[in-house]
Amino acid sequence: MNAVRPVSPGRLPDLLRLMPKAELHIHIEGSLEPELIFALAQRNGVALPYASVEDLRGAYAFTNLQSFLDIYYAGASVLIQEQDFYDMARAYFLKAAADNVVHAELFFDPQTHTARGVAMETVISGLHRACVDAQAELGISASLILCFLRHLSETEAFETLEQALPWRDKIIGVGLDSGEVGNPPEKFARVFARCRELGLHLVAHAGEEGPPAYIWTALDVLKVERIDHGVQAIQDPLLMQRLAKDRIALTVCPLSNLKLCVFPALAQHNLRQLLDAGLAATVNSDDPAYFGGYMNDNFTQTFAATGMDAQHAYQLARNSFEASFIDETSRRRNIARLDECFESFRG
Ligand code: ADE
Ligand code: ZN
Repeated sequence: MNAVRPVSPGRLPDLLRLMPKAELHIHIEGSLEPELIFALAQRNGVALPYASVEDLRGAYAFTNLQSFLDIYYAGASVLIQEQDFYDMARAYFLKAAADNVVHAELFFDPQTHTARGVAMETVISGLHRACVDAQAELGISASLILCFLRHLSETEAFETLEQALPWRDKIIGVGLDSGEVGNPPEKFARVFARCRELGLHLVAHAGEEGPPAYIWTALDVLKVERIDHGVQAIQDPLLMQRLAKDRIALTVCPLSNLKLCVFPALAQHNLRQLLDAGLAATVNSDDPAYFGGYMNDNFTQTFAATGMDAQHAYQLARNSFEASFIDETSRRRNIARLDECFESFRG
């Protein structure tokens, strides 16, 4: 499908909600709602430095990425048992299903858990069981991407990879997250090279707060297939050309960028410019429990603020399927569902 029929501004939010879409950038630990954090803390006897759900939510006023990460890692400390990881992912999948997400690739941060004595098997089994049930019960295809924490060393990343290898079949790829500035992609050159040899898909956060140079090295040194965030690419015209020419997907997270002060307002977000420049941008929620919205909130609020139209909506959803790590039959089926949605929608 090429040209999309115009849709009135009043009907656009319905189309955004209804259209099938893939989520490619969701840290599953970032989907832990305060209510579930408190429930798991009680179940596991973990003490929290917050008196109540309201008190915790009140702490969600971030000034930059690091101010968020400090609270995010504290929230993850309630995850101990296999069932906790299952319950967290299950809650996310229910939200995703309500938003017509038909495919999701979940990031997880094993080092946050193994450092507390939680076994890699506990983490991966709980998440994987939730992925299997999401397919069977909600019709969502789902897979797992293991992220290395970039504020830690490459040696620790290698140890983490080693611990995960017995569950290689339950992981489709690896990523790189946590504090970006001062931890460039090339710090992880050798471990990414090893993951590439193992046939894992490769992605990395780059150009969230960090400079375009980090996007270049994520591409040229780590050889990633997608860039997570990547919004700082706009500062570098040559990089913009490269990303457009090679159809490198950017997994953009508008509400995250707003809450972490990457842009002062959603109206100033550059998603529309990235798309209009021919880049394969997608919309994602990043850490929805912390940033005030899941997939459809990201779509509806960003469209309302930037004046994007139905053609942009189609392109974003289509990009999400084109950039998914799924087999070609599933990709074609998802794109056919998207086309059918746009053809039958009365705007
Ligand atoms: N871990 C969880 N959310 C993240 C983000 N937005 N950037 C880097 N690391 C993260
Ligand atoms: Zn992220």
